[in-house]
Amino acid sequence: MTITNEPSPGSPGLARAEACANIALAKYWGKSARGGNLTAVPSLSMTLDALRTRTEVSFSGSLGEDELSLNGVAASPQEAARVITLLDRVRTSAKISERARVTSLNNFPTAAGLASSASGFAALAVAASYAAGLRSSCGELSSLARQSSASAGRSVYGGFVELLAESDQASSVPSTRLNELVMLVLVTSAEKKPMGSTLGMNHTSETSPVYGTWLEQAPLLFGEAKAGLLTGDFNRLANAMEDSTRLMHATMMTARPPLIYLRPATIELMHEVSLRREQGYPEAYTMDAGPNVKLLTRASHLPNALAHYEAFLGVERVIVCRPGPGAARLSPEGELMDASRTQELS
Ligand code: DP6
Repeated sequence: MTITNEPSPGSPGLARAEACANIALAKYWGKSARGGNLTAVPSLSMTLDALRTRTEVSFSGSLGEDELSLNGVAASPQEAARVITLLDRVRTSAKISERARVTSLNNFPTAAGLASSASGFAALAVAASYAAGLRSSCGELSSLARQSSASAGRSVYGGFVELLAESDQASSVPSTRLNELVMLVLVTSAEKKPMGSTLGMNHTSETSPVYGTWLEQAPLLFGEAKAGLLTGDFNRLANAMEDSTRLMHATMMTARPPLIYLRPATIELMHEVSLRREQGYPEAYTMDAGPNVKLLTRASHLPNALAHYEAFLGVERVIVCRPGPGAARLSPEGELMDASRTQELS
């Protein structure tokens, strides 16, 4: 088969794409009863420039089945099932039947306990769509990625992004007031999650007695976080982000049996960040379904925060992330193809 990076519709080929991970400033935890992997609560995120996934997809008539390599190893049956579901959606839209070879690489260690499903499914959505000859809009790519992993719907866009409750697509939140925000990933643990997000949130919604409170409060905290971002009020954003984090973890922790993602180093860091914010430093913490703390700060405070947390007991590594670009297609050599689109999205 001739491999081309410019497949015409109906003529499948090869494409590569890159997407960044994102961190939720206002958290999503819980699926809507309407199904379709729609979220029960709205979420707000920052796309992280330093954490990236590159994915290549090639459709070929000579393949008997989809072949998937994630970070140099064959995908597990569970991972493969999620990837194949996305590929099947693309095949249906493009009216093709060819199987695909998918190779995906993260520039950050999966073992560091950092979520890779957001960048992974966003990059896969873009690469698979182009390889199949589709010319999808950003909204369509966000919908495709979101159906596989809701946070991936946000990674299609750069900068700051919202995914409203029960919304099919994420959208960009243009923010110029706080565009000097920096997120430090404080890697304290390489432990694997006790339970994946999808299972974890279904278990939480079924068994936590405070899940109803989470559903009630999460939209208010989302509103506060967004208002803080749009008005340039760091403390308002910081308070809403921390409230959203603690309430999400309280809901997880009160599931039966409990989901406790936080470790001693996480708790030490929560105390430290609170203390330093009381002393006037622009610092705030957030954690996802894992023990690593992500520290939100301002670029002007970066040297101080970096020096302090690199030396903090239990912190193995600090990754500095600034607002990153939206998912984009790459040339075969790895150059960004759609720079205009990337800028438009970031
Ligand atoms: C705690 O997007 O990984 O990071 O839709 O089931 O794939 P699925 O879940 P996922 O959940 C992310 C949960 C979170 C908070 C967030 O990113 O909003």
